[in-house]
Amino acid sequence: MRPKNTTKTIVTLAVIAALGAMIGAVRLYSQSSGGGAEYIGSAQCLACHENIDTQLMATKHSILFQKEGPEDKQGCEACHGPGSEHMSEAPEGIIRFNGASKAAESAACLKCHADGDKAEWKMSIHASEDMSCADCHSPHGKVKERSEREKREIETLLVDSEADLCLDCHQEKRGEFSKPSHMPVLEGQMGCSDCHSPHNNSPLQMERAAASCVSCHAEKSGPFLTEHEPVAESCLNCHDPHGSVNQNLLTQRQPTLCLQCHANTSVIHRSNSTQYKTCTNCHKAVHGSRLNADNNLFN
Ligand code: HEC
Ligand code: HEC
Ligand code: HEC
Ligand code: HEC
Ligand code: HEC
Ligand code: HEC
Ligand code: HEC
Ligand code: HEC
Ligand code: HEC
Ligand code: HEC
Repeated sequence: MRPKNTTKTIVTLAVIAALGAMIGAVRLYSQSSGGGAEYIGSAQCLACHENIDTQLMATKHSILFQKEGPEDKQGCEACHGPGSEHMSEAPEGIIRFNGASKAAESAACLKCHADGDKAEWKMSIHASEDMSCADCHSPHGKVKERSEREKREIETLLVDSEADLCLDCHQEKRGEFSKPSHMPVLEGQMGCSDCHSPHNNSPLQMERAAASCVSCHAEKSGPFLTEHEPVAESCLNCHDPHGSVNQNLLTQRQPTLCLQCHANTSVIHRSNSTQYKTCTNCHKAVHGSRLNADNNLFN
């Protein structure tokens, strides 16, 4: 509620004045109930915060204003908590999402959203770094302008495009996505969250990452009659997940990449002939082969 012009200020002040009597009544009520804050209903909030609902009502949270339900799960107070004390001590006495108590702020969201990976939020690396849901999500739609392509990001109320949101904090990773070979994240073809869960703890993030490679590159996981051991073990044995100066996101160029594990190849391989420098010229099916294991050298 930060009026942009004097007319609005006067109107707002008038509303506040008109509400004076009611506020007195609420204060009395909350005192008589032993000091605990009481729920007062969204209509009262909107009387003072008149411009707040436009964008909110365009999001999925509009449902909180449509259905009858327990008072702690309805309207503004579903997130901001009971409002009676705020009426007397504005802007104190209400959850403000200004970072004063990150755990309480996240708890306000988690009472409805403790499903999926968010069930483990409290153990997450981001929670332990004193972040809250509001560091990444804005229910009031306070987001930077984005293209239609990023519909999902707007729907999930992200404060910025996903790549920028993550990379503003993880600056050191930005360069990786600009290397000659890189995952198309800055291009908007995929998000960090295709491989990382922002909501749970680090080991699980990595698990999701490993499983996620083949969710998009299914053909690389077979089924193969002859598996190449390091592929079945982890794509990261040969690929960087973010970006690389080498083609195909490879951690090393050939032949170094292959010779890390195959230093003892037969004599012909150790000839200085340049044709042996690119192992995949002959061993083409490096991810695995649909041919029988006998005499199968991934060609
Ligand atoms: C009597 C008028 C009035 C009512 C009713 C009222 N507020 Fe406020 N509220 C204010 C004022 C004044 C401020 C301080 C404004 C500021 O600091 O910009 C404020 C501040 C806030 C803030 C913090 C704003 C910020 O910039 O950090 C939140 C959140 C808030 N109110 C939510 C609510 C909710 C939710 C309700 C209903 C339960 C409500 N208010 C009812 C007058 C009111
Ligand atoms: C789904 C949860 C949620 C609901 C519902 C909700 N808010 Fe908020 N509100 C937030 C969060 C999170 C922030 C801080 C981040 C942001 O601005 O989006 C916030 C910020 C605010 C602010 C301070 C910033 C500003 O925009 O001026 C005010 C005032 C406010 N809310 C009032 C309200 C009122 C009034 C309602 C009911 C019409 C309401 N909120 C409903 C979560 C919610
Ligand atoms: C009273 C319960 C309640 C509270 C509290 C609440 N939400 Fe929600 N939220 C919902 C419901 C219901 C939906 C709509 C779900 C749907 O349509 O699938 C929703 C939708 C969302 C979505 C979009 C999900 C999607 O898949 O598109 C996000 C993101 C979200 N909420 C974040 C938050 C954050 C952050 C907070 C705390 C500031 C919060 N919510 C507080 C009930 C709540
Ligand atoms: C580090 C940033 C970050 C934080 C912190 C964060 N989220 Fe998210 N959240 C995201 C991103 C990115 C997505 C989009 C993932 C997708 O597209 O499915 C998302 C998706 C969601 C969704 C919709 C998909 C789903 O998983 O249901 C909900 C609801 C949600 N977040 C709620 C929360 C709540 C509640 C908190 C706090 C406990 C929170 N988020 C904290 C980044 C964050
Ligand atoms: C407000 C700042 C902030 C934002 C926004 C943020 N992070 Fe983080 N993140 C951190 C901090 C701080 C750590 C812990 C220190 C570290 O490892 O860098 C962390 C840790 C991580 C880790 C674990 C790193 C490890 O060493 O195991 C991953 C993965 C991660 N973040 C991904 C993301 C993704 C994906 C997003 C966007 C959805 C995101 N972060 C948004 C601050 C942020
Ligand atoms: C294609 C999947 C994928 C995408 C997309 C992706 N990551 Fe990762 N990320 C991984 C994997 C796998 C690891 C583990 C690397 C390792 O163990 O060597 C990782 C590691 C990390 C780490 C912690 C470990 C380290 O190397 O410091 C951070 C932080 C991180 N990623 C942030 C991000 C951010 C931010 C984005 C989006 C801009 C992103 N990632 C996009 C798969 C991905
Ligand atoms: C959300 C889908 C998705 C996930 C998950 C994913 N990728 Fe990709 N990957 C892509 C897309 C899209 C491209 C770009 C394809 C193109 O431009 O033709 C790509 C390109 C690549 C390339 C070729 C890069 C180049 O320079 O040509 C490699 C190698 C690769 N991915 C490996 C991986 C690995 C390893 C993982 C897991 C850590 C992974 N991918 C996870 C979608 C995905
Ligand atoms: C033993 C090393 C190694 C491992 C492990 C490995 N790759 Fe590769 N990958 C390569 C090499 C080498 C190339 C380049 C192929 C070429 O030059 O013909 C490549 C190319 C790719 C490409 C881009 C070219 C194409 O064929 O589409 C993708 C995508 C890819 N790998 C995905 C994966 C995935 C997913 C995994 C894990 C299931 C994985 N790779 C594991 C060595 C490996
Ligand atoms: C992380 C270690 C590792 C890397 C890197 C690796 N391999 Fe392998 N490779 C293995 C293992 C383990 C086997 C199975 C055991 C064996 O026969 O040596 C294998 C088997 C093979 C075989 C079949 C050998 C046989 O006798 O049947 C060929 C051919 C091969 N790899 C080629 C390559 C090429 C080409 C590259 C580089 C693109 C490569 N490998 C990278 C570990 C690796
Ligand atoms: C010109 C084709 C060609 C190129 C290039 C090539 N190979 Fe081979 N490779 C073969 C043939 C043919 C065999 C089977 C005959 C043999 O054992 O010498 C073989 C066998 C192998 C074997 C299994 C037998 C052994 O010697 O251990 C491995 C492992 C192998 N190659 C790895 C590599 C690596 C690593 C590179 C790159 C440095 C490479 N190859 C480049 C043709 C090639």
